[in-house]
Amino acid sequence: MSRDVRRLLIVHHTTSPTLRELFEAVREGATTDEVEGVEVVTRAALAATAVDVFEADGIILGTPANIGYMSGALKHFFDTVYYPCLEETRRLPYALYVHGNNDTTGAVRAVESIATGLGWERVQRPATVTGAPGKDALEACWELGATVAATISPV
Ligand SMILES: Cc1cc2nc3c(=O)[nH]c(=O)nc-3n(C[C@H](O)[C@H](O)[C@H](O)COP(=O)(O)O)c2cc1C
Repeated sequence: MSRDVRRLLIVHHTTSPTLRELFEAVREGATTDEVEGVEVVTRAALAATAVDVFEADGIILGTPANIGYMSGALKHFFDTVYYPCLEETRRLPYALYVHGNNDTTGAVRAVESIATGLGWERVQRPATVTGAPGKDALEACWELGATVAATISPV
């Protein structure tokens, strides 16, 4: 079945105004007028389901770095969807943004390892932000959203 509109799913754990800023920048990039034919659906990581992933043509994941890992909420998302999605969502384009106080390395490694296990295809380098997000960080988040949208656009 062909569809004129592709769906970009943003699964995020947004726990503070800083993370909200990053999320909004990603969403603004994903919904830019420069890209046509893409609708954006957002889901809190604790509410997202395997069906949300099945229905997505691309996915963006957002998390704080917590104790050297992704947030428990995003881990819960992966625990929920991993086996249902394992055969169904291979090659799904994905990208990741992470915010931390000082070190996002473990969170990035953890997400990339699971996404690799799922066979998802990274389409943009992770946007990693530490401390208060400056203009460059917010632009990187915008770019991340726009890049995934452009990747799955049918136009
Ligand atoms: C329990 C806990 C563990 C955390 N662990 C890390 C960590 O390992 N690396 C890091 O860079 N930031 C860590 N942080 C900071 C969070 O990533 C940060 O609070 C979150 O991204 C929101 O940013 P904000 O507090 O500036 O709003 C931790 C925060 C909490 C509450």
